[in-house]
Amino acid sequence: MSPRQRQTRDLLVHIDRALPRSLRRQLEDQLRDAIRSGALAPGSELPSTRALAQELGVSRGVTGRAYVQLAAEGYLELRQGANPAVRNLARVQLAPDAAPVRAGARVRYDLRPHLPDVNSFPRQAWLRSVRTALAGATSAELGYIGAQGLQQLRVEIAGYLGRARGVAADPDRIVITTGTAHSLSLLARALTHLGAQRMAFENPSHFVLREVVKHAGQTPVPVALDSEGVRIDSLRAAGAQSAVVAPAHQFPTGVVLSAERRRLLIEWAQTSGGLVLEDDYDAAFRYDRAPIGALQGLSPEHVVYLGSTGKSLAPAMRLGWAVLPARLVDPIVYELAAGMIQLPGIDQLALADFLHRGEFDRHLSRMRTIYRRRRDALVDALETWLPDCPVRGIAAGLHAVVELPSADVEEAVCARATSIGVLVQSLTQHALPGYDGPAAVLVGYGPVPEAAIPRAVQQLAEIVGNARPPLMARAG
Ligand SMILES: Cc1ncc(COP(=O)(O)O)c(C=O)c1O
Repeated sequence: MSPRQRQTRDLLVHIDRALPRSLRRQLEDQLRDAIRSGALAPGSELPSTRALAQELGVSRGVTGRAYVQLAAEGYLELRQGANPAVRNLARVQLAPDAAPVRAGARVRYDLRPHLPDVNSFPRQAWLRSVRTALAGATSAELGYIGAQGLQQLRVEIAGYLGRARGVAADPDRIVITTGTAHSLSLLARALTHLGAQRMAFENPSHFVLREVVKHAGQTPVPVALDSEGVRIDSLRAAGAQSAVVAPAHQFPTGVVLSAERRRLLIEWAQTSGGLVLEDDYDAAFRYDRAPIGALQGLSPEHVVYLGSTGKSLAPAMRLGWAVLPARLVDPIVYELAAGMIQLPGIDQLALADFLHRGEFDRHLSRMRTIYRRRRDALVDALETWLPDCPVRGIAAGLHAVVELPSADVEEAVCARATSIGVLVQSLTQHALPGYDGPAAVLVGYGPVPEAAIPRAVQQLAEIVGNARPPLMARAG
């Protein structure tokens, strides 16, 4: 059947019944994209569920569920007696941690998958480093500093990454950024200028990172994943010049790239001239497995290593780093310099001191113990309250993947949980077209006190229980 294309009052929506993606998801994806791109401005009114359903020739359930999901994600405001409206908060959603609940609404449990425990931020140790930085800063360090970042910080980061992550880190190849998203944005821009446009992303992968590179001129291309990680046949078929991967703990699935796939991925880069962008976002937190060194150490001229203090210290630190192949140092420094971006020198000096005194290592070691206990409490509670749902991705990181029987259950669970202040994310909100893996809810334990975890899981289990029966009855 040919695609239906109807003009609603103020938005253009294409519904194609021939696509394997459900009508509801097609509608939801297009509205989400339109809001994110600004095509639907904050405050715009959408048609009622009834009017839109009539217009598109779909059931009202389809439009209603799409609106509920977008409201749960924070894009739409559903109003009694009035048409839904695009929220002003919509753009804030690009920050991965922006809460999708209405301002002032009570958050019972924040189980979003990428949040660290900022209550454990080492305030005293950081304060000491800031004092040392201020007291010792030279007049040159208080002047205009280079766009690549302060040398002493790059030296400390190189030492840490070589020792702890097996990165081949020469301080001259390191660029200081505001974090991984910023590093990716710079790389995407530089690659676009160099004539490369197709950037492969694991399917699923963090949607914010894809938005960031799209904004910088790249086309994200989906690449399939399986239990060993990114599939190299799919990567070869994608015809991409670069590929973003998270080998140590893939987001959101938690899959670890197998030794054989690591080898094949490097081979892909070396034979095709492709560039691997290694997102090492939470590898510092691994629990019951041997450390897996960074991929970058195997082929420093073909892999960019991306690291950040966002998970290890706090998202608000806004300090990260990229370790670059020689040929990309000048283009990336140029991107920073031409964009007039120089990161605060005092923060850089403080982080250098913090690393130098071993505080970073001490903090990570302390957090590993705390997170492991929370992870164990979560796994126990899931076994008790959701014994039928397979749990994956728990050997590292700050979240578990709790599989659900269907995309409909996933959608209902996430919308309901978010509406009552139990903040979770769905796995498929990170999916690209062609995703055919399981539906799941992503349950983070980073910021949740150990004692609160059983109750949080019990609430989630109640929601899952309520979401399942009618659907099972319908299926029967
Ligand atoms: C998988 C993944 N990579 C990268 C980032 C971005 O990190 P940063 O805060 O350093 O930009 C996030 C943020 O949540 C993430 O979840």
